[in-house]
Amino acid sequence: MDYSTLASIAQQARANSYSPYSGFRVGAALLGADGQVFTGCNVEISSLALTVCAERVAIFKAYSEGVRSFRAIAVAASGPGFTAPCGACRQVLSDLAGTIDVILVGESGAQKVLTTTDLLPHPFGPENLRRLHDHSDTP
Ligand code: THU
Repeated sequence: MDYSTLASIAQQARANSYSPYSGFRVGAALLGADGQVFTGCNVEISSLALTVCAERVAIFKAYSEGVRSFRAIAVAASGPGFTAPCGACRQVLSDLAGTIDVILVGESGAQKVLTTTDLLPHPFGPENLRRLHDHSDTP
């Protein structure tokens, strides 16, 4: 699947955004290594900290279906310019997807392609905990 198609699926997913408090609508489309696509939108909760971003909804859906290997995620937000994933989503994508392309999608459909490693260089991750249990302090 090409990135323009993935971008338009993210824009369609944005239509389901439940964002009554911020009015900021976000859709995501996560492309699995096998070509399967998982969509997500932001879902806001009145106790605002419980809100979940579109990117995390998409990747948790994929994990809950047993899919663990990914190629790219497209993120389409409302408003002008590009919206990059928040810090929490960068950590989640880094942990659960490793290095994949992140396609930021503008209102017009314009795309900017980065990677999860561009967004979160020098990440904390599963490897840090593995090293702890292995009692190895090699960086
Ligand atoms: N949001 C996302 O869904 N993804 C992002 O990458 C940035 C922020 C949502 C969370 C909240 O519902 C709204 O946008 C405003 O922060």
